[in-house]
Amino acid sequence: MLVLGIESSCDETAAAVVRDGREILSSIIFSQTDLHRNFGGVVPELASREHLQKIGPIVDQALAEAGITLTDIDGIAVTQGPGLIGSLLVGVCYAKALAYGLGIPVVGVNHIEGHVYSVVFENGEVRYPALALIVSGGHTNLFHIHEEGQYEVISRTRDDAAGEAFDKVAKMLGLGYPGGPLIEKLALSGDPGKVKFTTAKISDGKPDFSFSGLKTAVTRYLRENGIESLKPGEEPTQEIKDLAASFQYAVICALTETMRRQAINLRPKTLIVAGGVACNLALREAARSVAHSIGVPVFFPSRDLSTDNAAMIAAAGHFRLMSGERADLALTADITMRLQNTGTLDTELRQQKVRYRL
Ligand code: KG4
Ligand code: ZN
Repeated sequence: MLVLGIESSCDETAAAVVRDGREILSSIIFSQTDLHRNFGGVVPELASREHLQKIGPIVDQALAEAGITLTDIDGIAVTQGPGLIGSLLVGVCYAKALAYGLGIPVVGVNHIEGHVYSVVFENGEVRYPALALIVSGGHTNLFHIHEEGQYEVISRTRDDAAGEAFDKVAKMLGLGYPGGPLIEKLALSGDPGKVKFTTAKISDGKPDFSFSGLKTAVTRYLRENGIESLKPGEEPTQEIKDLAASFQYAVICALTETMRRQAINLRPKTLIVAGGVACNLALREAARSVAHSIGVPVFFPSRDLSTDNAAMIAAAGHFRLMSGERADLALTADITMRLQNTGTLDTELRQQKVRYRL
């Protein structure tokens, strides 16, 4: 079965052709990073206009690289949400029109479920139950996946996502955008024990994450120690390198400690760490040590599959199409889409009016 995946939830326009949910025939990603860099973050309106320009050529390129034509495709999987509404709409409308024209099925895929499936290409078989830490610029969640397609959110962030914290701290230090890779690079020559940052514990006892206090702690540290952010072209000082390493260490500890505690509790057969922040080698190292300590394998996507791509969307869509799921022409973008079909904690939190991120 050949599935065409389409991803346009944020600032990457991507298309991929995946055979039988496991083999990537092509994966084309057009990143808009250059377009948004001057603004220090993604500008939604610019992003959707750019998707509109790029989506046709990117799909054509994915088909050409896979050595197939439109009539060879058996189904289309498109990111339905969460994400930026204008960006999502471009992908969803394009996918629906194409599926209608070709007379083939289309399914909407949750972007975060896509990240979960990003590990299927280069690792062994995922065994269930699995525990998946999905860390990106927009999301930070720990999922207990009871069986394939059955998700329960164990942890979510109450404020900033982990990647967002990396991006904001990088901005404060004058490093540029996106911040994750830049902080990781500086951290390599910094001392993670130099500044003792801690992340907040959630007062209601839930294993949730919170990174905005850490961001404030970095701001305070900069102010109290008279550290100026770097000017363009300026070499980072040792002080800044130590700060980057200490901040990174605090984020990684919060993520992996929660994963370790929940893994001991839930006894998964596979650990998954995916999403843009999973590019971070120090995070991978810490997750490997958690996996080792509890004796289960941990799967990561390769770097290209860690950040947003359409191959992961095609893989998640393959599972849905094989399960008989079909969207009709009423399919539309859903920015509030949740990835939870088991357990009720989200409902409980909503009723208590607790603020948290999807
Ligand atoms: O998954 P992704 O490409 O897009 C979203 O769905 O958000 O993740 C992008 C995020 C950005 O916040 C970026 O700073 C972060 O992933 N990131 C990293 C690294 N590479 C990318 N964070 C920490 N270390 C990295 N090496
Ligand atoms: Zn993503």
